[in-house]
This record gives sequence, C-alpha cells and structure tokens, in this order.
Amino acid sequence: MRIARQWTLVAEIMAAAIPLGVSLAQPAKPTMKAIVVHEYGGPEVLKYQDAPRPAPKEDQVLVRVIAAGVNPVDDASRSEKYAKFFGITLPFIPGYDIAGVVEKTGANITKFKAGDSVYAYLNLKDGGGYADYAVATEVEAAPKPKSTTFVEAAAVPVVALTAWQALIDTAKLSAGQTVLIHGGSGGVGSFAIQIAKARGAKVIATASTRNQDLLKQLGADVAVDYTKQKFEDVTKDVDVVLDSVGKDTLARSYGVVKKGGFIVSIVARPDQAELDKRGIHGSSLGVEPNSDELTEIGKLIDEKKIRVIVSQTFPLSEAVNAQEQVATGHTRGKIVLKVAEEPK
Ligand SMILES: NC(=O)c1ccc[n+]([C@@H]2O[C@H](COP(=O)([O-])OP(=O)(O)OC[C@H]3O[C@@H](n4cnc5c(N)ncnc54)[C@H](OP(=O)(O)O)[C@@H]3O)[C@@H](O)[C@H]2O)c1
Repeated sequence: MRIARQWTLVAEIMAAAIPLGVSLAQPAKPTMKAIVVHEYGGPEVLKYQDAPRPAPKEDQVLVRVIAAGVNPVDDASRSEKYAKFFGITLPFIPGYDIAGVVEKTGANITKFKAGDSVYAYLNLKDGGGYADYAVATEVEAAPKPKSTTFVEAAAVPVVALTAWQALIDTAKLSAGQTVLIHGGSGGVGSFAIQIAKARGAKVIATASTRNQDLLKQLGADVAVDYTKQKFEDVTKDVDVVLDSVGKDTLARSYGVVKKGGFIVSIVARPDQAELDKRGIHGSSLGVEPNSDELTEIGKLIDEKKIRVIVSQTFPLSEAVNAQEQVATGHTRGKIVLKVAEEPK
C-alpha cells in the first residue's frame, strides 16, 4: 500500500515537472497534412490539418501521395451507417484512390522499391488517401501507367476496377456481345465503355444531353440521352447491362436483356424474381482491390485503348468542395485532389 502511494507521488512530481505535450524519451513523430474526419456528418466534417504520418507494416509500402481520386463512396464514408458497415472508426482519413511515389517498403514487400511510381485502390476499411502519405499493400497497388500524369492515374483505380470486375469478372462480357452501360459519362461508366470496346463488344451507353458527345468520344456505338428518350424504346436483346443508377433504371433494365443474359448492378441487388421470370442472370458487386487487374488496366491506358477523363481538380485543402461536386451524381469523368506537385 505504502509502495503504491510512493509511486503515485513520484508520478505526480514528474508530471508537474514535464510541460504538457512533451514526451520524455520519444522523438517527435513525423507529421503530414491530411483531411481528417472526427465526427459523422456532411462535407463540413472534413478537416484539413496536421496528422501523424503512417508507418508501413511488413506487407505495406509507404507512398508519397501526389494525387488522390474522389469517389461517391468517399462521401458515404462520412455516414455512421456506412462507416460501421465497413469497420471504419473515428477519427479517420478518407480516400481510396491514390497515385504517388513509393517512399519506403515493409520487410515483406517484393514487388516495389523506393522511388517506384504507383497507383492504388486502398481497401474500404483503411482508406487514408486524402493525405501527403498513405500506406498500401501489394494487392492494392500496381505500377502507375507510364503515359499518364499522377493526377490522371489517381482517377483510375476504384472506378476502372469496378468496371472491369463488373463486365469481365462477373458478367463475362465477350467479343461480339452487346452491353448497355448506364451512366456512361461518369467515373465507372467512362471506363466501362472503353473496357467493353477493348473487349470487342458493341456498346450502348446512357447519359444526359450535355454528355452525349463524350459517350461517342469514348467509343459508344449508340448514345442514349436519358432525359429525352427511354432507353428501353431503343434497346433490346442486349447480352449484358451494367447498372450504376439503380431504382427505376434497374427496374426497367430487365426487359432489355436477352434470355441467358446478365445484369450486374453496382448500386443495388437485382430482383431474383424478375431475373427468374425472364430467364436471365444477375448480380450485385462490391469492388475489391486487385493489383493484377490494375496492372492490366494500366497497360490498356499506355496502349491508348483507354483514355482517362479528369474534369476538375482541387487542392487537398479543398476536399470539401470536391466531395460536394461528386455528391451531385453528375460528374463528367473524374474529380481529383492535387496533393503535391507532379514529380519532374
Ligand atoms: N459497388 C461498388 O463497388 C461501386 C464502385 C464504384 C461506384 N459505385 C457506385 O456507382 C455509382 C456511380 O459511380 P461513379 O463513380 O461512376 O459516379 P459518377 O462519377 O458520379 O457518375 C454518375 C453518372 O451517372 C449519370 N447519371 C445520373 N443519373 C442517370 C440516369 N438516370 N441515367 C443514366 N445516367 C445517369 C451521370 O451522367 P449525367 O451527368 O449525364 O446525368 C454521371 O455521369 C455511385 O452510386 C457509386 O457509389 C459502386
């Protein structure tokens, strides 16, 4: 008892002698600029501040982030329901798309070395892309396409992997088939059109009036203005539908798919009764990090088979404005945060 009291006294004397916030033995931890979310809510909860720089674990690389892509899911990560679903705990740094330069590698890393240019889709639980530095595993990262800027590269991972996993992995789209791509001018849609064309498919794509020209430039064989025309009036017997809109758009899509065809939705679960009634298949999809697929996509970009459309950039400190723009649901191509100057 007496010993315990003595230790309490020693601790009190030491605490009184040490100025607040100064640690005795530990050197100051390196910091960085980042967007940090301390509470759930609207874009106003995104705070630009100093934060501890992450240290890579054995299976991670530390990346000096040059640019970070902005996605609708970044917006959702500020909601308590979504954050809990993916196991995100407050405070956290949002952002899943990065392009940058490897600064340091963990002991088990074999694919990358310091100085390599990479791009990555960071897993949904950890995120951390809206920052000067982020960590990524070898499954999440791939060599950055050589022909793009870092800003363009940061626009790629989440949406291109989503389009790839929906069309190639899930719906098994093949040459000569016809695919209907909803929201063809957005992040996922702009890659989906080009991946489908590179696969040798015929593409019908939907968007509003102002984006009809973009659908054609991306390679769509048929562009449908959903504000003027019902897609089901001009589309029938398609092999595959990629749905990124949901609700009424998904409900009206069952009728345009040929028997044995496939509907893949990235925003809703297709209605099994509707699928059965029409003899078609369907699936929902949650995109997963995949380094091999990201490498394949990078090759298609370098071969000029896929163009990256970045419509707007913002500095990291203006992440609020970037997320407000993405939340409109009418982004043309992608929005990207510029975190640092492009390396020479
Ligand atoms: N499940 C997953 O793993 C996954 C992965 C990525 C994204 N997503 C989700 O998929 C959705 C799309 O993502 P994104 O990054 O492509 O979004 P985005 O960049 O905001 O693009 C949305 C596009 O949808 C178009 N659009 C809006 N209403 C439409 C309608 N009624 N019919 C046809 N097109 C319409 C818009 O074109 P206009 O401006 O011309 O209207 C816009 O280009 C989001 O809800 C996102 O959360 C899911």
